[in-house]
Amino acid sequence: MPKTILVTGGAGFIGSHTCVDLLQNGYDVIIADNLVNSKRGVLAHIERVAGRTLTFNQVDVTDETALSKIFEAHEIDAVIHFAGLKAVGESVAQPLRYYRNNLNATLTLLACMEKYGVHKLAFSSSATVYAITPSPIAEDAPLGGCTNPYGWTKFMSEQIIADWARCDERRSAVLLRYFNPIGAHESGLLGEDPQGIPNNLFPYVARVAAGQYPHLSVFGDDYNTHDGTGVRDYIHVMDLARGHVCALNYLDTHTGCIPINLGRGEGYSVLDLVHAYESATGKPVPYRIGPRRPGDVDATYADPTRARELLHWTAERDLANMCACGNRWQMQYPNGYEG
Ligand code: NAD
Ligand code: UD1
Repeated sequence: MPKTILVTGGAGFIGSHTCVDLLQNGYDVIIADNLVNSKRGVLAHIERVAGRTLTFNQVDVTDETALSKIFEAHEIDAVIHFAGLKAVGESVAQPLRYYRNNLNATLTLLACMEKYGVHKLAFSSSATVYAITPSPIAEDAPLGGCTNPYGWTKFMSEQIIADWARCDERRSAVLLRYFNPIGAHESGLLGEDPQGIPNNLFPYVARVAAGQYPHLSVFGDDYNTHDGTGVRDYIHVMDLARGHVCALNYLDTHTGCIPINLGRGEGYSVLDLVHAYESATGKPVPYRIGPRRPGDVDATYADPTRARELLHWTAERDLANMCACGNRWQMQYPNGYEG
């Protein structure tokens, strides 16, 4: 019998790529997503790339009645919980919406898992839960001091999940702390489809290279880094997807709750990424140096040792590959998914 995985937020950027990897590894996939930040059109792309079908439920994960129906209809073996709002600036402007959505989604999901006896959970956390601390950052680095409500929802969800796992010895949870996922599936059929003007570096660079925007604004060149621009740990979204499949294997053989970084362990600056994109695609990425963005730090990259030791996972794709794949998606689907 193939195992059945409930994927909340499975229509989103990371969720859709993970669903492909799950289907290709023989799992049956059920998505619960209310499409608040994604489009129905992604589903056909997932199925086409994976060569298999999935089950989709348009459901708000904060709606316990609707979510219960999914648990009642299927024997769910494990849950991967991506559903959440993720725009940092928006979370500052609309804090209650972020706390209500992200915390209620986690609470409601855990209540259903408890009710239906599902004990295994992989949670999308973020490097944003770490306090400002020197890199490389290991999982036992100090936490907290988040600069925005989005970050606090991840911090608080981690605590809620840890407490949930602690009170029943059959339970198992991994808190996957992502660094900076970018790129797209190598087919160019799946990618990041941000609504409106992208806030994050990579989709903005991709649109500048495609001629949609005239130039990139580099947010500060006076950081304490090799070229003065901010350094981050960029990771190919398909490497990240595979990390979730590895996490499912880990959940099968362990109990308790553990945080695990998913990053490459290498930092690249904004200008490194711009030049890598230009080399990988042959397209110019014009840029101008602008002021710093409030809340940004000099350099953040992972210590990925724990993921290697416990999940037997290492990110394999380099920055050139991330740029080439992201560009393929950008050129094939400049307006994102239909629907
Ligand atoms: P995304 O916005 O593309 O995907 C999230 C999905 O969740 C969307 O399809 C959205 O419609 C859905 N969703 C939101 N609230 C929901 C609700 N109440 N009920 C049902 N569906 C809901 O984001 P992503 O980049 O794929 O990120 C996935 C997860 O990983 C998020 O929790 C995000 O916070 C986390 N994360 C993302 C990054 C990143 O850089 N992309 C980094 C660290 C952590
Ligand atoms: C962002 C989120 C963070 C989240 C992380 C995951 C913010 C403030 N933080 O972090 O909470 O966990 O994504 O991926 O949004 N940059 C430019 N010009 C741009 C955009 C970005 O120079 O137009 C620079 C930034 O200053 C930074 C780097 O590019 O140095 C990466 O920025 P971004 O892609 O937004 O990611 P993070 O800031 O790491």
